[in-house]
Amino acid sequence: MSNSVRVAILGATGAVGTEIIQLLEERNFPVADLKLLASERSAGKTLKFKGESVQVEAVSEAAFQDVDLVLASAGGSISKTWLPIAAQKGAVSVDNSSAFRMDAQVPLVVPEINPEAAAQHQGIIANPNCTTILMGMAVYPLHLIQPIERIVVATYQSASGAGARAMAEVKQQAQAMLNDETPPTEAFPYPLAFNLFPHNSPLNDQGYCQEEMKMVNETRKIFGTPDLRISATCVRVPVLRAHSEAINLEFKSPLAVAKAREVLSQAPGVTLVEDWQANYFPMPLEATGQDNVLVGRIRQDISHPNGLELWLCGDQIRKGAALNAVQIAELLVTKQWLRSPLAV
Ligand SMILES: NC(=O)c1ccc[n+]([C@@H]2O[C@H](COP(=O)([O-])OP(=O)(O)OC[C@H]3O[C@@H](n4cnc5c(N)ncnc54)[C@H](OP(=O)(O)O)[C@@H]3O)[C@@H](O)[C@H]2O)c1
Repeated sequence: MSNSVRVAILGATGAVGTEIIQLLEERNFPVADLKLLASERSAGKTLKFKGESVQVEAVSEAAFQDVDLVLASAGGSISKTWLPIAAQKGAVSVDNSSAFRMDAQVPLVVPEINPEAAAQHQGIIANPNCTTILMGMAVYPLHLIQPIERIVVATYQSASGAGARAMAEVKQQAQAMLNDETPPTEAFPYPLAFNLFPHNSPLNDQGYCQEEMKMVNETRKIFGTPDLRISATCVRVPVLRAHSEAINLEFKSPLAVAKAREVLSQAPGVTLVEDWQANYFPMPLEATGQDNVLVGRIRQDISHPNGLELWLCGDQIRKGAALNAVQIAELLVTKQWLRSPLAV
């Protein structure tokens, strides 16, 4: 990658935004200029990039002037307001919110699965939901060798999935409960420390929450399989960072465990973690800070001849958000797709 890119990070002070800053540095992304954008609350704060202090600005229309790439992680309504403006000013945005994911004009991209979709962008590319990305990383390589008919997944989602404030709150809750005090519940509706609860996003008429339906609809869009049958149960657990998922796969025909293991041991972005004798498998503490999704406990489903069970853990702030977004940005630079067709 030789081109130098003028980058703006919208939501730079958040859990995902700060990880994006770190990844741009770690991966030596060709940054010509870096703007850090957030709300008025953070204006004037400074964050470090390559040893230099960069001042955070409150987002404004003028901030998108002379920007090639926007990496956005400030929430759906903020993306809806600002990313079309950024596109008109000539920038391409990679958005971590759910605002544009199911928009037919907006590619929804996991570089290891459907990189070519990014070429079709109209100035905005959506980064999928974090649990969806993690599941896709483990499931798609298997789907390529043996088509999948049905996925049943249960998630164990960490506090960090709800942002920096939620992460801090779960620590405060743990401390309060150890002191027999009432835990604070501002970021979450209930105490999460020493507890768990079904994902608290809005429920539909069928009883599925929004997070569960994101896994269904976004997986279908990324895989290009509109009829794939998927059922998800999403649960928030008292883990600080990194999500886990128990996944049941039903294939069109049987897929041998040994073959699945062989495929996943070679899949990009996946690390096979299995020591059956030691009963050692992926754990969120070990997935924390890692780029790869850890997959293990691959076994035959004893209830179905075409079924496999597997377990994964992945750092959803990294591969589930910031890393995936930066990989999309790298793809745009390498393929020279970094131009907004909406520029006026
Ligand atoms: N956390 C995850 O694992 C994860 C994974 C995938 C996707 N996402 C998505 O990524 C987005 C950010 O998540 P997060 O976890 O990083 O949240 P977060 O830690 O709460 O950070 C939110 C960021 O948005 C900024 N912001 C808030 N209101 C703003 C406004 N009116 N104008 C400009 N900036 C504003 C905040 O700036 P201030 O500091 O000034 O408030 C902060 O930088 C969400 O859409 C989330 O769904 C998160």
